[in-house]
Amino acid sequence: MQCCASVSMSSGSRRASRFLQEKEDEVPQWIPGLGTDKPRPRTLGTSFFGYVPDAFVEKTPFLPSEKKATTPTPKDSETKEAEHKSEGAPNGQYLDPSSSKEFQRDMDASSDEGVVTEEVVVPQRVERRAAEPWDAQSVDSTDGAHEAACSVVSTALSSATDILHGRGSDGVRSAQNRLLIKGGRVVNDDMMQDADVYIEDGIIKQVGTNLHTPGGTRVVEAKGHLVMPGGIDTHTHMQLPFMGTFAVDDFYTGTRAALAGGTTMIMDFAIPQKGESLVEAYHRWRSWADPKVCCDYALHVGVTWWCDKVGKEMEELTEEHGINSFKMFMAYKDTWQLDDHDLLESFKQCKEIGALAQVHAENGDIIKENTAKLLDMGITGPEGHELSRPEEVEAEATNRACVLANQVGCPLYVVHVMSKSAADVVSNKRRQGHIVFGEPIAASLGTDGTHYYHKCWRHAAAHVMGPPLRPDCETPKYLMDLLANGDLQTTGTDNCTFSASQKALGKDDFTKIPNGVNGVEDRMSVIWEKGVVSGKIDPCKFVAVTSTNAAKIFNIYPKKGRIAVGSDADIVVWNPHATRTISAKTHYQAVDFNIFEGMEVHGIADYVICHGRVVVEEGNVRAVSGMGKFVPTPSHSPYVYGRVQERDIANAPKKVDRAPYDGPVIQLNNQGLTQAVESSIIPTNQEFYTRGPTRCGGLNLHDSSFHVSGRQIDDDIRPRTSIKLLSPCNGTSLGAQMNDKSPKRPSVKVHNPPGGKASGSFW
Ligand code: URP
Ligand code: ZN
Ligand code: ZN
Repeated sequence: MQCCASVSMSSGSRRASRFLQEKEDEVPQWIPGLGTDKPRPRTLGTSFFGYVPDAFVEKTPFLPSEKKATTPTPKDSETKEAEHKSEGAPNGQYLDPSSSKEFQRDMDASSDEGVVTEEVVVPQRVERRAAEPWDAQSVDSTDGAHEAACSVVSTALSSATDILHGRGSDGVRSAQNRLLIKGGRVVNDDMMQDADVYIEDGIIKQVGTNLHTPGGTRVVEAKGHLVMPGGIDTHTHMQLPFMGTFAVDDFYTGTRAALAGGTTMIMDFAIPQKGESLVEAYHRWRSWADPKVCCDYALHVGVTWWCDKVGKEMEELTEEHGINSFKMFMAYKDTWQLDDHDLLESFKQCKEIGALAQVHAENGDIIKENTAKLLDMGITGPEGHELSRPEEVEAEATNRACVLANQVGCPLYVVHVMSKSAADVVSNKRRQGHIVFGEPIAASLGTDGTHYYHKCWRHAAAHVMGPPLRPDCETPKYLMDLLANGDLQTTGTDNCTFSASQKALGKDDFTKIPNGVNGVEDRMSVIWEKGVVSGKIDPCKFVAVTSTNAAKIFNIYPKKGRIAVGSDADIVVWNPHATRTISAKTHYQAVDFNIFEGMEVHGIADYVICHGRVVVEEGNVRAVSGMGKFVPTPSHSPYVYGRVQERDIANAPKKVDRAPYDGPVIQLNNQGLTQAVESSIIPTNQEFYTRGPTRCGGLNLHDSSFHVSGRQIDDDIRPRTSIKLLSPCNGTSLGAQMNDKSPKRPSVKVHNPPGGKASGSFW
């Protein structure tokens, strides 16, 4: 139950689709804030195919499992949460929510039926660009002009792209779903184009105008809408076992809610306990997710402890299980936190295997220290959470992670960037040439940490997450500006939801409040509202930060993150004009609170297409558990590792070639202390240069200019009649002659060293 009167709640029905069936000549202003790329009328392009009169008939078949799909009501989730409550486990122990009866979903995802209609004729091949390293997976040109010109594309590419996109080898072909998204504006990260999109078997087959489509094609009218790649949420924790309980949104409710908001893929974290096998954790997460997910998902894997075996498992996960990112924790002392040594080891291993190192950047030692002080002071409420980990605690760890990663040449990805100063660290390091990426989340872009000071405990506790939201209403705008200028790249949610009764584990002690907030359902709308409607980003940038950049960084582009031939048909048909009011009363998530409660947002996912199936229709979700697939993320993403090798070569330390030192070397006694060098008169100046050169190859200024024998360094040099001061002010050339070839040193000859007789040690 939402308890606080201070936030206004929407009484209107959720997701009221206000999409007007505009006539062709009434197409409204397309998108606000487009800058120079002003709305333009749809161009009726020409197509290789002619017009097919019966092509636009709604005949898309649906799977029996889709028809059967049951949609849990809010009541279901309440019951579920109540039952979960009794299943709490202590820290360090994992729970298997899938073993709970109430979590068993209809896993029927069979896809062995459908209407097979005639094959599309193969008209021509699309020219591909000359191969470049980062083109390895390209199936289309990323050049907008080229793409626009290719209004007709060939299905001949489909078998090739099936292979490129990792499909086909299992021979499983889903029903011949045929879908035409008609009359919308296709938005990619680098271009917008008025075009229809034709989909078959879950893959985009044609993008263009006046497309020829076969009979049995269902049409989604997209006039007045933007047709964008489905969102990729880079950071979720569905049913995470955490702080004695587990997140209430599981892989079913969480991914279903994701679809409702226009997100068609999530990236979750398999997190082993200290000492536990990473591979086992991975398999456990797969066993939880596979039967439940309604949309595609990938996994990052946590590194919560270090030994050689962990390094080997990282390699195995990368090579055999499709994992290309590992999250290291700099907080959660005594459970998941790694010290600097272990961070360095894990970074080195990430680099070795071509994976991306991710960090939760907060200084866990400082947090522990501060927490004890606050509890001593009697501060036990949720504000203590924020007070114990102020902004600089995040910024320090962010900086340290950047330095450590850079020192071993490992690309770094900072998850949940929550503060201005942590974001500044990422920006500045990027300016210094570090390979570092930053991920703000829906929460940090859409709300702030003033809520920790709310009088209602439940309200304040609902916002507890780590790193905390910042009690500064400028932070969300600041982070959005950095997304706009490219200093930050992706957006996740850190969706990790706990209902009131779970949060209440910490009613007397803020350190026991399970950390986490919602976001997976509302991320797209919140970013649209705070980014596009505010004029900070345009729709192309919206696509970049909600999907494309993630697809590139995690090496699944252009399978994901692009509307192009050969890409997965994961598409959101976005109504930029419609509005809705976010509320826990109407959201799909299982959690009983929404941190964006009362926020009115423009931008609604009227239709969401996942694997070519319409899973959201005019705001209504028709998702099926198990319908999503695990998406392997290959190592060595060219967008991450593309410049690492050259950078290593360019920055490699260079040895100075010089003649070896062949003079005397002092002897150390067994305490490591210097002993006097006993020797007779040595007839060369070498005797004076006992310390060897400095690291830069210069003369060591600690060399003595006299010798125990009483000889002085320039005894062999003819006495000069005059001293020429070349730089008298800084003294660097004192005593040197212009053509003097003898070693130069800024020291003065001492005939009578302090202490009288030379002792043999330095002074
Ligand atoms: O509060 C948070 N962030 N909960 C999830 C675990 C994590 O650190 O990402
Ligand atoms: Zn974290
Ligand atoms: Zn997280």
